[in-house]
Amino acid sequence: MKVLLLGAGAREHALAWKISQSRELWKLWCAPGNPGMEQRWACKAIDPCNPAQVCELALTLGIDLVVVGPEAPLMCGVADALRKLGIAVFGPDAGAARIEGSKAWAKEVMSAARVPTARSEVFTDLAAAEARARAWGPVVVKADGLAAGKGVVVADSGEEAAQAVRALGKLPAGATLLLEERLTGPELSLIALCDGERYLLLPPAQDHKRLLDGDQGPNTGGMGAYAPAPLLNPVQLEEVGRLVISATLLELSRRQQPFRGALFAGLMLTPQGPKVLEFNCRLGDPETQPLMMQLDEDLLPLLAACAAGKLTQTKLKLKAGASVGVVLAAHGYPDAPRAGDRIEGLEVPAAPGVERFLAGVRKDAGALVTAGGRVLTICAQAPSFEAARALAYAEAEKIRFAGKQYRRDIGAHPAI
Ligand code: AMP
Ligand code: GLY
Repeated sequence: MKVLLLGAGAREHALAWKISQSRELWKLWCAPGNPGMEQRWACKAIDPCNPAQVCELALTLGIDLVVVGPEAPLMCGVADALRKLGIAVFGPDAGAARIEGSKAWAKEVMSAARVPTARSEVFTDLAAAEARARAWGPVVVKADGLAAGKGVVVADSGEEAAQAVRALGKLPAGATLLLEERLTGPELSLIALCDGERYLLLPPAQDHKRLLDGDQGPNTGGMGAYAPAPLLNPVQLEEVGRLVISATLLELSRRQQPFRGALFAGLMLTPQGPKVLEFNCRLGDPETQPLMMQLDEDLLPLLAACAAGKLTQTKLKLKAGASVGVVLAAHGYPDAPRAGDRIEGLEVPAAPGVERFLAGVRKDAGALVTAGGRVLTICAQAPSFEAARALAYAEAEKIRFAGKQYRRDIGAHPAI
């Protein structure tokens, strides 16, 4: 198979690493890729959000399967354009990608599919939203659209909620707002590879979204993740697959929007059972990094089967033990990440069982320098959590750049 992978982050670097081990791969191209991916695979400098450019590249290269990493190209209709040309693509059409692009629409789909989720109300009138928020008290305020991790405020009081309504209402993504019942419990990322009807659950993973140890500090895109997260037993997992993933796929297909790609359910494990906080239309970042290392399967035929609507496999083989991914972030992340800090240590090979997946990195006069908030993910696979953590952290210390930030507690409490 000739495969084109779209994206430039650590998630895509990890996907490329896994896909390139496939027995069915002829050649892998990445677009645009990053300096880490460039070392091993051909990278093409196109705009992954431009459907015409992606289609032209796929036709020129004779691509058999396009794998889309991030949500932005999906929302721009890249998968729609490729499918119109008869090119197989792992990633949903823009219509189904709305499950991530519009929280109000996602809620409507969940309600129709009877997916367990927090109670919510949708507002387009800011004054009405503010009044309701003040009366509600502790409530979660969400902007409907994509807001780069800045679209959700978990408010402790009515006054704080009203303030959040005013702030989020100013965002382009906040023309429609949701007020949502505040839930409690540990969070879990459950991702399914879907063919429009059938699905294959990846092992549950857990992200760490706050910047600092002990879940303190501001929200980020994710500071690290581990898998498998031992928070649901196989029977519970099977049930969540049915009630959340399968029910949603059925509802989307009933609406003529079949979902072919990775459906990501952000769950909260409440005392009343698992409930969906959000859906994403793609694999998670950083969850994908440990997930790729934990899989003991040839991933490429599974992605191709999903793209073709012909997924037959129902279980995934995993490696023994666990995988832990630690994100190394730039100085000033998440508010104002500093670019241009020279990265040292990558020239020395990583220890066995460790991969370094690059993200916010660019080449500058032959050296690698920081060029984004999340710079790279150090990911380790080992026969136990303790060993995987120790290995990931030993390697994290070997990578040096000014202002490096990382959490010391990724996967420290996998039972919580
Ligand atoms: P979201 O982008 O919807 O996943 O929200 C971002 C974060 O806000 C989640 O990871 C949760 O930590 C928190 N959050 C979202 N919805 C709720 C809710 N209904 N109750 C409590 N916390 C929530
Ligand atoms: N790790 C959360 C996300 O990918 O959205």
